[in-house]
Amino acid sequence: MTQSKQYLPSPDWQAQAHVKGMAGYQALVAEAEADHEAFWARLARELISWQTPFTKTLNDSDAPFYKWFEDGRLNVSYNCLDRNVERGLGDKVAIIFEADDGTVTQVSYSELLAKVAQLANALKARGVKKGDRVVIYMPMSVEGVVAMQACARIGATHSVVFGGFSAQSLRDRVQDAGAVMVITADEQQRGGKALPLKAIVDEALADNSCPSCKDVVVYKRTGGAIAWVAGRDLWLHELLAGQSTTCEPEWVEAEHPLFLLYTSGSTGKPKGVQHSTGGYLLHAALTTKWTFDLKPEDVFWCTADIGWVTGHTYIAYGPLALGGTEIVFEGVPTYPDAGRFWQMIEKHKVTIFYTAPTAIRALIKAAESNEAVHPKRYDLSSLRLLGSVGEPINPAAWEWYHANIGGGRCPIVDTFWQTETGGHMITPLPGATPLVPGSCTLPFPGISAAIVDETGNDVPNGQGGILVVKKPWPSMIRTIWGDSERFKKSYYPPELKGYYLAGDGAIRDAETGYFTITGRIDDVLNVSGHRMGTMEIESALVSCTELVAEAAVVGRPDDTTGEAICAFVVLKRPRPSGEEAKAIAKQLRDHVAKEIGPIAKPKDIRFGDNLPKTRSGKIMRRLLRAVAKGEAVTQDTSTLENPAILEQLGQAY
Ligand code: WTA
Repeated sequence: MTQSKQYLPSPDWQAQAHVKGMAGYQALVAEAEADHEAFWARLARELISWQTPFTKTLNDSDAPFYKWFEDGRLNVSYNCLDRNVERGLGDKVAIIFEADDGTVTQVSYSELLAKVAQLANALKARGVKKGDRVVIYMPMSVEGVVAMQACARIGATHSVVFGGFSAQSLRDRVQDAGAVMVITADEQQRGGKALPLKAIVDEALADNSCPSCKDVVVYKRTGGAIAWVAGRDLWLHELLAGQSTTCEPEWVEAEHPLFLLYTSGSTGKPKGVQHSTGGYLLHAALTTKWTFDLKPEDVFWCTADIGWVTGHTYIAYGPLALGGTEIVFEGVPTYPDAGRFWQMIEKHKVTIFYTAPTAIRALIKAAESNEAVHPKRYDLSSLRLLGSVGEPINPAAWEWYHANIGGGRCPIVDTFWQTETGGHMITPLPGATPLVPGSCTLPFPGISAAIVDETGNDVPNGQGGILVVKKPWPSMIRTIWGDSERFKKSYYPPELKGYYLAGDGAIRDAETGYFTITGRIDDVLNVSGHRMGTMEIESALVSCTELVAEAAVVGRPDDTTGEAICAFVVLKRPRPSGEEAKAIAKQLRDHVAKEIGPIAKPKDIRFGDNLPKTRSGKIMRRLLRAVAKGEAVTQDTSTLENPAILEQLGQAY
């Protein structure tokens, strides 16, 4: 594989960027290689205001439970808010909020600080204290960011649950985290529709299923009708009334858990990825500075939801830590039409735009079929930088994004990272790295990404392997909440020499050494940039006990969503066909939506009398993947009990 087409950073970019040219990049890489700890210590002192400076950079005595800046104390909300007000940025706009219906609200740094302090005081008044867990199940809103920052201010550990997850998923997370409070809204307004949130919280907490949770705080977003549990439910506005707009931050140790964020792994239930305070904040700020080259006059827009890690690092924390101005958008890219993103870029003069390949691919399709929403109809000249995250971006989508959104002049940073890594790991730096469409290029300075074989030995460039990170880094996952054994097993398997196992396959270009991510090597699917475990979806299907005897789930490539979920199902009744099969498929999709959330609904459902298995009874997943793709089966199927099922499984509903 040779990567011939490169896009070089313009001389302007090289001159003005925080990291200037490949020489600038190489100097940082060399500094980190020469003294890994000193490199991170320098940056931690430069980017973070410490209440108590740290004296020890890294404690690796209990690897892989690494500790960074252990004896330092700080507060994230102080760093994101007070510090900027003290620097004279009080009147600067922190957040430009655009509602689903287009209404715009601007919040300055002083106003944001006052809101956060008020909520922090209110949380304390309800008895929430340092170390308590608070679940946030909120729409995209200023209040959502305020809730996260308010938790950080008092040292409570937040766990944001994406508003698209079902009651069952929410319940699992509240229980696992032992949360004392859920902060939610009456409803969320998306794409012109009001969708329930509070009703889902009610269902999740029903029957005293979450005894740890004493309070439900409700932000009135739509005013829609909701049920009310006296003694448990509190209106946010009533709770805030009379609270002081100042609140002394709780100075916490650098290792204090800032948040838990549940994500899917290859086995079992979603795991609560635990992040630290100091190391996490450092990487959030540093990557916002170097990868996004954030400058005081920028208008930064990350389209992710605060329910995902991207919304944590590049909405709730990174841009605010640097005193930036950012957009928070409530709605969806296709409402009122598929020109919404472009129209908002024009309206707010966005300079840096960060989104997911799925959104780009969907908007390409929309633009190609409807001239009226084509980006050329909008003035996108304010843009100077584009970003991509969450899944591989195919070169065709990259080229379209570059030409049609970036006007051929904006670099694209294809940022590879994960919930567990806290921030960017492999990414171009816009004033330095020559770009190759489809490649996330080179490791961020200080990140020792490498490709190895099953025994942890380096593989030569040009040969694919397992993506690892050799040295610990400040924003790495600290543990899985309540399950340190699972943390070790999942991320530090003994055969990999103490390297962090990312769970992705990758290959480096023979000439340039550039990384290309080839996809997950475990049973994790990436659908529209959302992570889901095949086992989770299988469990959801078989929990439909009246219908399903057995289920297997695999991914298949999809033009828009990257991967699509394909379920193979054996029913407890004769295999259906025609209209009946369609009706049952719908019933199963609805069941999965109830168990996990609509994002986990299988796209294809295929019914068989049984599933193809090896002699030892293992499901032949490789064969299922071929069937899902509609490929001819080339595998040896002589061991199949019932070769006719291949034909049965050929039909998708
Ligand atoms: C995938 C999202 C290719 C990858 C920040 C990873 C990517 C998983 C990229 C993490 C990229 C993320 N190119 N693949 N630029 N970014 N991925 O935890 O498989 O939701 O392991 O974090 O998304 O997904 P997560």
